[in-house]
Amino acid sequence: MKKEKILITGGAGFIGSHTADALTKRGYSIVILDNLQPPVHNGRWPNYLLNKGYKLIRGDVRKREDWLKAFKGVSYVYHLAAYQDQRPDFSKFFHTNTVSSALLYELILEKKLEVKKVILASTQFAYGDGIYQCKHDKKLFFPEPRTEKQFKSKKFDILCKHGKPAKFFPFKEDQQLTPTNSYGLSKEAIERLALRFGKTYGIPTTLLRYSIVQGPRQSPRNLYSGALRIFVTQALAKKPITVYEDGNETRDFVNIEDVVSANILCLKNKKTDFEIFNVGGGKAHKVIDFAKAVKKITGSPSPIVVGGFRRTDTRHAVSGVSKLKKLGWRPKFGIEKSVRDYAAWYKENF
Ligand SMILES: NC(=O)c1ccc[n+]([C@@H]2O[C@H](COP(=O)([O-])OP(=O)(O)OC[C@H]3O[C@@H](n4cnc5c(N)ncnc54)[C@H](O)[C@@H]3O)[C@@H](O)[C@H]2O)c1
Repeated sequence: MKKEKILITGGAGFIGSHTADALTKRGYSIVILDNLQPPVHNGRWPNYLLNKGYKLIRGDVRKREDWLKAFKGVSYVYHLAAYQDQRPDFSKFFHTNTVSSALLYELILEKKLEVKKVILASTQFAYGDGIYQCKHDKKLFFPEPRTEKQFKSKKFDILCKHGKPAKFFPFKEDQQLTPTNSYGLSKEAIERLALRFGKTYGIPTTLLRYSIVQGPRQSPRNLYSGALRIFVTQALAKKPITVYEDGNETRDFVNIEDVVSANILCLKNKKTDFEIFNVGGGKAHKVIDFAKAVKKITGSPSPIVVGGFRRTDTRHAVSGVSKLKKLGWRPKFGIEKSVRDYAAWYKENF
């Protein structure tokens, strides 16, 4: 029987390549469209993609001719290629992330492609700071990002109008999105256009809002790759492990294997059509505790140093995952596995 063909854009990257491997094991044939974006890549296809029978197309999701090369015979699309950073080249986020997603639907219609489903990567960043509650008057509010002045005075918590620390609520799929940077805004726009075009033209579509994903193949050259890369490389180099703010900010880091199982679940499960799901680790970790775990697991003598800040960081980023759990998915792997696997991979490859 002919294998069904799946196109993964950004498939040379971290999440895409693991997804490709898992789909291959399930009997699918894989096409990867990726422009090998520096600095994530250094101009070559990464070794982990070679000799696996994947069709590798070096091309740009902003270009229709590159999509058309990749689309031949494809039944399903994972659109994971993205520009991820905090830099002020605002338009690049929309060209790479949002316009490419519109182009994907445009070409499916224009060329009458028989694509059975599209799964797109969104992000927890789409929530921005999310919803808080004043502990005094119990009113809910969407905070503005913290100011430079607030950071400098080391008042890191989100404050209510009475100037007191407010209560954070884990993100829920149906709450209002308040993204605070170009990346989050570009992903919010993807969600809206993909659901709209998907519904209007009958193209089953699912959006996955990943939390911070961790595991091997996360390029150390990807400056957007976060605490795991930073802490592990610092720990292995026996340099101080640097934690921002006071370390009490929280994150629900999610292991790559749990993200891959969410990606696979959505492929054929009709209950995921035209839906958005959070894909998180299911547990809030203080960043200071994560740093301690990295130090312990790597056996590093590095001191942990707390201080400094990044203006664009959110205080807490934790997603509720009950919606996806109702479909039988659950996060199975904790931060220990992510740190162990990443450190082993890093030592072997760098
Ligand atoms: N890793 C995370 O923590 C995380 C969290 C939330 C959402 N996401 C989303 O998941 C998706 C995959 O992320 P990742 O962590 O695997 O990132 P990654 O950087 O490892 O992979 C992204 C891939 O996209 C490719 N790419 C970039 N611009 C391109 C373009 N114009 N044309 C073709 N290919 C292009 C890159 O070369 C890279 O191989 C992205 O959409 C990202 O926004 C990731």
